[in-house]
Amino acid sequence: MSDIIIQTVYFAAAILFILGLKRMSSPKTATSGVEWAGIGMVLAVIVTFFFPGIHNLWLIFTAIAIGTAIAWVAAKKVEMTAMPEMIAMYNGMGGGAAAGIAAVELLKLSTDAGATMSVTIFSLAIIGALIGGISFSGSILAFFKLRDWLKNIYFPMQQIINLSVLAIAIILGVSFFFWHSNTILISFFAASLAYGVLMTMSIGGADMPVVISLYNAFTGLAVACEGFVLSNMAMIIAGTLVGSAGTLLTLLMAKAMNRSLSNVLFARFGGSSGGAAVEGTSKSMEVEDAAVMLNYVSRVVFVPGYGMAVAQAQQKVWELASLLLDKGIDVKFAIHPVAGRMPGHMNVLLAEAGVPYDYILDMEDINNDFPTTDIVIVLGANDVVNPAARTDKTSPIYGMPILNVDYAKQIFVIKRGKGKGYAGIENLLFFDDKCRMVYGDAKQVMAKMIQTLKEQD
Ligand code: TAP
Repeated sequence: MSDIIIQTVYFAAAILFILGLKRMSSPKTATSGVEWAGIGMVLAVIVTFFFPGIHNLWLIFTAIAIGTAIAWVAAKKVEMTAMPEMIAMYNGMGGGAAAGIAAVELLKLSTDAGATMSVTIFSLAIIGALIGGISFSGSILAFFKLRDWLKNIYFPMQQIINLSVLAIAIILGVSFFFWHSNTILISFFAASLAYGVLMTMSIGGADMPVVISLYNAFTGLAVACEGFVLSNMAMIIAGTLVGSAGTLLTLLMAKAMNRSLSNVLFARFGGSSGGAAVEGTSKSMEVEDAAVMLNYVSRVVFVPGYGMAVAQAQQKVWELASLLLDKGIDVKFAIHPVAGRMPGHMNVLLAEAGVPYDYILDMEDINNDFPTTDIVIVLGANDVVNPAARTDKTSPIYGMPILNVDYAKQIFVIKRGKGKGYAGIENLLFFDDKCRMVYGDAKQVMAKMIQTLKEQD
């Protein structure tokens, strides 16, 4: 196949990536967006086989078959709550692949006496290798931590040691330009991989999704760099897209948690305790009594959180909401940008349950409506409704924008027990006079409320 045809197909693939990404920005078109980008990727892979001089075909086919089989089974089996782990793994593989390409190209310099590389291409190969290597080892460690197979590790002078390892990796990378030695190259890759591990070691669980998004951006950047090395347009465009989208997402997530990126990377947070001691007691209520009260109101807002995802309660919530709508009650869903464990977590679950988009409102669109809301049902959410973020300067979540559910006339909090949220702190809302704790698994409580309301009709 001629080069012009190959490059045209790569260009078409890149256009499909861009259009796919655009469609992913709305839940309505997201599924087709994934399909479009997927078709682009299939095209890019197929046309690569027509590259002149491609060899080792059986090795390539075997690798693709193994990778496809593992990814197929993993994607079929993955729970929605385990999505960040899966994304971490995919990121890592992308970063590793980019670093692998760099390794092959750079090795040519030390093994083939006639091989040359311009300074620009060499620099891009090294930058891609460094970032890809960091993303590979860092993402794998992030996977282990999200699975709870590894705890945070702290040691003295951690940041200084970490930065020294990064500096060593950079010095080795530059040195390889002057001395084409295999030892220097291997040491460079070892230092890059070590830095990925060191950087991720101390980052707390609550920050892990932000870090995974950052690694996603790293992987994109690494792929774009190696695209220049291979003169592959699809890699350059796809890598740049992933790199810029990942960077934006990382900054948005950090902003929604009112944290700077450096604070996420270098400060200890997550699973920590903190904040002023809370005085008073929380008051509980039976599920049936809470359900009965729903008959006498005109406006109800549901606030879903991580607990709804754990309980897989989204279908039942929509069933309850539909019953209330049938009674003429105004029902809305309020979504905090970092509710759950990944961006859009709650939107995806509610969309899966068939909740129409008009009923789902973002924080800034609903926050002023809470004072006129009769009952707020907080369903497995905790940190995102904690007024300590507004009032307690000693709290680790101080400054994080929250859903103002404490301004509502009455609040029901549905959770299993005294479990804390991801920030590991006490919630002031639970001690509010207007708040009643309705203890139980989110799905079971929803089912009981539905049953009570139906029995009354
Ligand atoms: P969390 O604050 O994590 O609270 C979840 C609550 O759900 C827990 O208090 C738990 O209490 C309850 N729960 C667990 N399983 C349940 C079940 N089966 N039924 C009912 N309740 C259950 O959740 P959130 O309010 O959604 O906040 C998200 C947190 O993650 C924030 O701190 C946020 O900063 C962090 N975070 C999110 C993201 C993204 S992008 N979403 C990224 C980084 C960090 P019990 O154990 O008592 O039931």
